This record gives sequence, C-alpha cells and structure tokens, in this order.
Amino acid sequence: MTLSQTRPTQSIFNGSYAASTPLISSFRNSMAVVASGVEMVYDSGAEPYAVLRGIDLEIQKGDVQLLMGPSGSGKTTLLSILGGILTPTAGKVFLMGQEITGMTRNQLAKFRLKNVGFIFQGFNLFPALTAAENVEVALKVKGLRGLQARRQVAIELLEQVGLADRMHHLPKDLSGGQKQRVAIARALAGDPHIIMADEPTASLDSQSGHAVIELLRQLAKNAGRTVLIVTHDPRLVDAADRITYLEDGMIHG
Ligand SMILES: Nc1ncnc2c1ncn2[C@@H]1O[C@H](COP(=O)(O)OP(=O)(O)OP(=O)(O)O)[C@@H](O)[C@H]1O
Ligand SMILES: [Mg+2]
Repeated sequence: MTLSQTRPTQSIFNGSYAASTPLISSFRNSMAVVASGVEMVYDSGAEPYAVLRGIDLEIQKGDVQLLMGPSGSGKTTLLSILGGILTPTAGKVFLMGQEITGMTRNQLAKFRLKNVGFIFQGFNLFPALTAAENVEVALKVKGLRGLQARRQVAIELLEQVGLADRMHHLPKDLSGGQKQRVAIARALAGDPHIIMADEPTASLDSQSGHAVIELLRQLAKNAGRTVLIVTHDPRLVDAADRITYLEDGMIHG
C-alpha cells in the first residue's frame, strides 16, 4: 500500500477539463472525482466566511481516499460539494467524468441517486424502522420497484455488511458499530460508484471501528468502488490509498 499526500499542485486541466485531448480523456476515465478551483463562501453570518479557498483534488477510481484536517476546516463542506449536496461559490466538480456543477437540480438529483452513496455523520437512521426497513427506504428512493424485491435486496445488503442476524432490530437495539453498518448498507443501495462517508468510525469502540474500516476498504477493493472518507481517526490511515489534508480552506501536502 502506498500512502501519499495530495499536494496543492495545479490540476493538469488548468480549468480545461472538458477539452478532449487523448491525455485528458484517459485521465478523466481513471478519475472518480475531480475538483478544480473549488471555493465556498458562507454568507449566513455577519460577514461572508470563505471556508474553501481554491481546492484542486483528484481521486482515482477504486481508491480509498481520506480527507483529514482540524475541526471547522471545511471537510464536511467539501464532502457535501463533491457529492453534489452543496453548490460551491466557484469552481468545478466532475464525478465519473461528468461535470456536476453544471447540472440542473433535477439532473443532479438523478445523477446522485445513481452514482453516490452517503454515510452521514451520526448515522441518520429512521428510529422507528428496523435495520431492513431503513435499507428498504433507501432502495425505494433509488427507484427499486416492488416490496418483495426491496426486501430481498435489503437482506442481501445487510448480509454483505455482516448484519444477517440483526435485520429486524430497531436502531435503538443495535450497537454503534451495527448502526454504522446499517448506514453503510443503506449507502450501498443502488450500487453507486462512489461512497462518501463523514466520520464513519467516530464514537465507535476499537473492535467496531476496525470492522467498519475493513468493510469500507473491501467495498473499494472487491467491487471497484471509490470510497472518500472524512475522518479524524488515525486508525483509518492504514486502510487508505491516499490522504488529503485540509487546513485554512486549502489543501496542504
Ligand atoms: N451553513 C453554514 N453557514 C455558515 N457557516 C457554516 C455553515 N456550515 C458550516 N459553516 C462553517 O464553516 C466551517 C467549516 O464547517 P465544516 O462543517 O465543513 O467543518 P468540518 O471540517 O467538517 O468540521 P468538523 O471536523 O468539526 O466536523 C465552520 O467554521 C462552520 O462553522
Ligand atoms: Mg464535519
């Protein structure tokens, strides 16, 4: 395994990612995520606050990429922008070779459903639904028709994350690590190319943390998915192919 840091070098595109030279085409095909000159200014406070100040980032398909940095450095903001949940103030984002920053809301919603699975900070499970039902809801949102089909796929996904014996438990009756695995099964609904996770191991004990880390790595290595993880957790470092550090709104190598 090689651990290397993404440096704040200029992207080879120089802002011309859409150009179709053979070099750029082959580069584009090997990249799951490309960000070029991404800036984000929050305008809700007394003064505008520039949280991201020119982010260039390239994530190779099949890689496990960590995004690390101090609290408040903009990691969740960047993850939300890369996943198409937030629109940046400036810059471009390409996922699987397609520019998402140019899409309409509708196009983006459809694209996201097919291509990106999110694991949010703090699980975001529906408390009144069992593990299986939580996954079924995600499958319904992703467009899988038929109650039986959804039930069947939910069972398969929960088996995949090692929760075959906990399908019918409510979140309150699951451990932190098990809840996190339900959240991962839910992110796998629709078989997305890219999984984005915000602090997936926070507040997990050592054993559950390792199980989740191993699962995220398998998702990348066995199924060719790209996994982008925001984390403070040094335990994840060994599972990563690349690590990017964010500080003061910029990427530091
Ligand atoms: N909607 C918003 N309006 C104004 N400021 C915001 C908004 N969302 C986040 N911020 C600010 O932007 C900065 C970056 O927030 P963000 O959540 O991206 O940080 P983070 O690196 O994920 O932090 P943590 O590690 O604590 O989760 C913080 O100072 C935060 O207060
Ligand atoms: Mg955060």
